[in-house]
Amino acid sequence: MPKEIKKELSLRVFHKDELDEEVRLLVDKARHTANNARAPYSNFKVGAAVLLEDGKVVLGNNQENAAYPAGLCAERVAFFAASANHPKSKILKVAIVALQMDANENNIPAPCGSCRQVMSEYEVEQNTPIEVYLTGGKGDILMSESIDNLLPFKFSVEQLS
Ligand code: THU
Repeated sequence: MPKEIKKELSLRVFHKDELDEEVRLLVDKARHTANNARAPYSNFKVGAAVLLEDGKVVLGNNQENAAYPAGLCAERVAFFAASANHPKSKILKVAIVALQMDANENNIPAPCGSCRQVMSEYEVEQNTPIEVYLTGGKGDILMSESIDNLLPFKFSVEQLS
């Protein structure tokens, strides 16, 4: 039998009343900025609120384009903005909220593979885990204690050498 390498995904499920004040505010900010997403093609609006170590919050939302692949997810808009404007600040937490306009507001946005890859590199570089909170417009919040938990087998800079 070949040896198996196994790693389990671990998520916590919170009711919104169980969140601490800081995270509740972060989720509210992500929800608010999701409303400003540019999503005329998918109608799937996503907002991301990034909390930095100095308490600053950087927002991003998905930006779609008629040339579809040119658009960008909320998570990358927020992480790139945080890195561009606060390059020395660690990222401690990110809240990601999806508002599906025409259907299920309980739809939880599982970050896409490219966003996991991007968020992961910031996490590895800063050597501090980034907590992730995921929720639809309503309903429970899923929490991952790190990006690594969402992307355990990742491409990284070591592989380039
Ligand atoms: N999207 C995000 O912004 N974040 C996610 O976590 C999932 C997907 C966006 C990309 C696209 O604008 C729309 O949602 C539908 O895929």
